[in-house]
Amino acid sequence: MLESLRSVVKFRRFEPNPVKRRLNGAANVDDLRSIAKRRLPAGVFDYIDGGAEDEIALTNNSEAFRRIGFRPRVLRDVSSIDTSVSLLGRTTPLPLVLAPTGFTRVADTQGELAVARACARRGIPYTLSTMGTRSIEELAAASDSVPWGGEGQRRLWFQVYMWRDRGLVRELVERAAAADYEALVLTVDTARLGRRERDVRRGMTLPPKLGLDTIFDGIRRPGWTWTFLRNEPIVFANVATSSAAGDIDDGSRAVDLAQHIQDQFDPSLNWDDVEWLRSIWDGKILLKGVQSVADTELAVANGIDAVCLSNHGGRQLDGAPAPIELVAPCRDAVDDSIELIVDGGIRRGSDIVKARALGADAAMAARVYLYALGAGGELGVDWMLDFLTDGVRQTMALCGQTRAQDLTRELLTEV
Ligand SMILES: Cc1cc2nc3c(=O)[nH]c(=O)nc-3n(C[C@H](O)[C@H](O)[C@H](O)COP(=O)(O)O)c2cc1C
Repeated sequence: MLESLRSVVKFRRFEPNPVKRRLNGAANVDDLRSIAKRRLPAGVFDYIDGGAEDEIALTNNSEAFRRIGFRPRVLRDVSSIDTSVSLLGRTTPLPLVLAPTGFTRVADTQGELAVARACARRGIPYTLSTMGTRSIEELAAASDSVPWGGEGQRRLWFQVYMWRDRGLVRELVERAAAADYEALVLTVDTARLGRRERDVRRGMTLPPKLGLDTIFDGIRRPGWTWTFLRNEPIVFANVATSSAAGDIDDGSRAVDLAQHIQDQFDPSLNWDDVEWLRSIWDGKILLKGVQSVADTELAVANGIDAVCLSNHGGRQLDGAPAPIELVAPCRDAVDDSIELIVDGGIRRGSDIVKARALGADAAMAARVYLYALGAGGELGVDWMLDFLTDGVRQTMALCGQTRAQDLTRELLTEV
């Protein structure tokens, strides 16, 4: 009886680590999102998950990937698969960069440090946001605290918003140079903050204010609330550690993000400012938030190293084009004169393969790691990066492709 029971019943080995136990139940990024939704206060989850207005751009970012199918080849010996590609002139193990996000520590108290370590272990570049909650220097130290998993030196990029106060921008850029950041990523789609109506409805501030509703919500998420209250306050770490910031809000008082951006960011941003940035930075410059062929061509004319085709994850202009649909026309217009990165809606390794096959040098992704942080902190980000890496390998193997550098549109079809 015991014998026959043993032959049909299978138990998973007990996992003593509760975070790993939680992650063991996940099969994909949607599962990480569901776990994060359970663990984070509703306002925090909506800040991460939401988009602008009717969330048409947000939805379309993912839907556009679903409309692309594969034309697999067979009998091509896929026993060895090389996922590495060249990015900004250096070999990188996967065509993936992690995108900048503001206020990352709301998802997990380690925030950007956890993401930087997970990326460094695998040699994947990571971009710190101007609105990040860890400083330029802290992030560099965290990245250096683990063995670099890629070729050459570590790769950190710094995302810049153009503050009205150019003294602050200059100081941040100088600090990024001193800490050996590889590239500046100038975000150009934020003349005003998109109207994120989930945040409007909740009166969301950053950091979240503890009102009656949030306290009630917090009681239902004791893990997050306890950690939030016990750890050092969440602030805009780069502004807080700047000597040039003057009386600019550093997030130590709760700020309304839309108002903050209206007050502090310069809506007169134009190509002359790009030129100015070039004059104070010797490294690579990327423009993030380009959404047309015409602006991609202008980026080439202005000597930009790479553009990131992006609609800010559907958080800015609702009705903006799905960035993945811009890759082919932009690549056709500019040939190989500039590198193209695409973000918005990347949730699987197969999405990265599609981006690469359409002509992008790499994909960028943000929410994948925010859900991962919310679901399981640094272990969650490790889980997610392994999931995406394996997804790229899996897709390439099933498509009969052995080198990520050789992927072309031949591989794709519309579904
Ligand atoms: C919570 C959150 C905060 C973000 N903060 C920034 C930011 O500070 N700077 C920036 O350039 N982009 C920011 N973004 C946009 C991302 O860098 C990226 O363009 C976009 O989220 C990609 O889409 P995905 O989340 O579907 O991968 C943010 C996105 C999210 C979800």
